[in-house]
Amino acid sequence: MEPEQREQKLKEAIKAENIPHHVAVIMDGNGRWAVERGLPRHEGHRQGVETVRSTVRNCSELGIKVLTLFAFSTENWQRPISEVNFLMSLPGKYFETELPELMRNNVQVRLIGDGKKLPGRVQKAVKDGSEATKDNTGMILNFALNYGSRSEILRAVNNLLAEAKAGSLKGKVDEKLFSRYLYTADLPDPDLLIRTSGEQRISNFLLWQLAYSELWFTDAYWPDFSKIHLMEAVYEYQKRKRRFGSV
Ligand code: FPP
Repeated sequence: MEPEQREQKLKEAIKAENIPHHVAVIMDGNGRWAVERGLPRHEGHRQGVETVRSTVRNCSELGIKVLTLFAFSTENWQRPISEVNFLMSLPGKYFETELPELMRNNVQVRLIGDGKKLPGRVQKAVKDGSEATKDNTGMILNFALNYGSRSEILRAVNNLLAEAKAGSLKGKVDEKLFSRYLYTADLPDPDLLIRTSGEQRISNFLLWQLAYSELWFTDAYWPDFSKIHLMEAVYEYQKRKRRFGSV
């Protein structure tokens, strides 16, 4: 089937009343995409940014309310310094060129992760992007940068301990209270997690928040992830029966 036909069919099949509210994405396979084309790995990341642009637009158009993208993990510092530097150059470039489009599409940008350990220029780029878009009321776009879920959970525990020690924490900690100490404090948990490139792992991403999310995997590398893949994921999500541990 031609891509246009496939897109049209998916468009007709997707029910507007059951669009996942929050979609989280592990954008994997940039390196392999590049190597398979005889290109240096960073070319995969460069192309990956193009997919970020199109996916943000496509998610917003579909009516997704929160999109969380895993852009740099706490483990990614172990990559060669040249690759880390390249990855660190991306947020600045992205906001430089994308801000007008984000504003036009009413997208609000946020950061999740330990921002303080990012290079100053990255902190500034994200801070400026968040600041410029903070009053936008459309889709929330979370960039997970220097993000690791275990350290996020430990940070929450330590903040709770500090409050307990100071005497400002009364009573027991329940799930609702604990969630408020995570980076995603005021956001609903993801309904759908997408991971590209054929890998089927969570990789220290949103471990608490993904407890009841639907998982969808595709063999496509992130630079090849298209509107059709996104629609397929949403279509598949709509076919799932979410039981949240019930029957
Ligand atoms: C994983 O692929 C991808 C990353 C570690 C980086 C993802 C970043 C982007 C897609 C760009 C982010 C954009 C902005 C604007 C911040 P990999 O390199 O592990 O691929 P491989 O498994 O094939 O080697």
